[in-house]
Amino acid sequence: MLFFGSSKKLKKTLQGIHAIFFWFILGFCLALLTLFLHLPGFSQQSVTISILMRGGEAQQWQPLVQEFEQEHPEINLQVIEAPNDTNQVEDLYTASFLLGNSPYDLVFMDIIWTPKFAAAGWLKDLSGYLSPAELDQFLPGDVQGGMYQGKLYRIPFRSDAGMLYYRHDLLAQAGYEPPETFAELITISQDLQQQGLAEWGYVWQGKQYEGLSAMFVEILQGSGAFWVDPQTLEVGLDRPEAIAAVKFLQNTLTTKISPSGVTTYAEEETRRLFQNGKTVFLRNWPYVYSLALDSPIAGKYSIKPMVHGENQSSGACQGGWGIGISASSKHPEAAWKVIQFFIKEESQKKYALANGYVPSLKSLFNDSEIVAKYNHYPELLKVLENAALRPPIPQYAQASDILQRYLSAAVTNTMSPEKAMEKAAAETRRLLSVSDK
Ligand code: GLC
Repeated sequence: MLFFGSSKKLKKTLQGIHAIFFWFILGFCLALLTLFLHLPGFSQQSVTISILMRGGEAQQWQPLVQEFEQEHPEINLQVIEAPNDTNQVEDLYTASFLLGNSPYDLVFMDIIWTPKFAAAGWLKDLSGYLSPAELDQFLPGDVQGGMYQGKLYRIPFRSDAGMLYYRHDLLAQAGYEPPETFAELITISQDLQQQGLAEWGYVWQGKQYEGLSAMFVEILQGSGAFWVDPQTLEVGLDRPEAIAAVKFLQNTLTTKISPSGVTTYAEEETRRLFQNGKTVFLRNWPYVYSLALDSPIAGKYSIKPMVHGENQSSGACQGGWGIGISASSKHPEAAWKVIQFFIKEESQKKYALANGYVPSLKSLFNDSEIVAKYNHYPELLKVLENAALRPPIPQYAQASDILQRYLSAAVTNTMSPEKAMEKAAAETRRLLSVSDK
């Protein structure tokens, strides 16, 4: 009986404790919720925006990524590293879009991808996101490279153009002016090699990849030749001037001004040879300039527009990288905030000063801090003004693949320049006529 009585009491006490506990937890949760709702960053749901980019550059983005996240605690910017060759990154993006549900909100795009990605419907139309006056602040070639059929799909982040680097100390020592023509480049190289001033005369990107096509566009332009006319889709690769352009590359190997290894070199291999003082001339992009400031040849090199044939003019391949938004992104507003942050003058300036890349905003070419660090900028602007486009057609990736294969066959002596260009032209015509139907 006693036991029965005290168990009833116990039950009541327990019920009381439960009730107090329940109200306490509820109150605590409500207080937490109110706190979270008032904290900056918790008031909006945090989103993750992802972007895929070449490994080296992904690292270089980090300081700006951190700054962006501090400014926008509601956005987590995830930079995913890819291999360094542009076509490998393009393949990864392409595969993700073809499979559907691409994990990438932003597309860090080489200038040559725009027509293909836009035509496939993978990119959001960004026309009207910037006013005409705002767009006018960018270098025109870079804006043009983001357009497809009158619409804007890619906002330029950094510009690029191919150029000739030369050792002004060695040229002065041997009494030469910098070369203007292909023939002068060969003669000066041979002479300096014979005098023992350098092991090699000229290094260029001869590996079978996109860099080979980019470099060849400059030799084509300097030979008065063309690859594909984007308006008429006419193919010029089997014309005598284009064959002469291939023969110039072949001559650099037969005269031994270029090492046979160039047929396997991309940008970085050629940069290292130049920085280590092994060659007089180098074809490369502007990023080399700042890296070589910290090398044994510091203060001994200059840049100029690429050499060309007699009575022809220089061509600089227009390169460059910009940012687009995936059509499938679930967070296009947050993605646009990332673009706005990265393209603004302050960010581009920091990026250029830290990494030597060329800004896409014209104003920065006269910025005192940038010009103080990179006194080659006035010369660089001249190079950019002569920029030659790789054909802006949706089938560009396949056309470039065809050119790379046959050009590689010619420079490695497995096919004559005539045969190689005849085949490249025929295959390109087939590609363009098939995809035209
Ligand atoms: C540079 C250029 C790019 C080009 C690539 C080739 O990154 O900016 O446009 O396609 O080199 O390797």
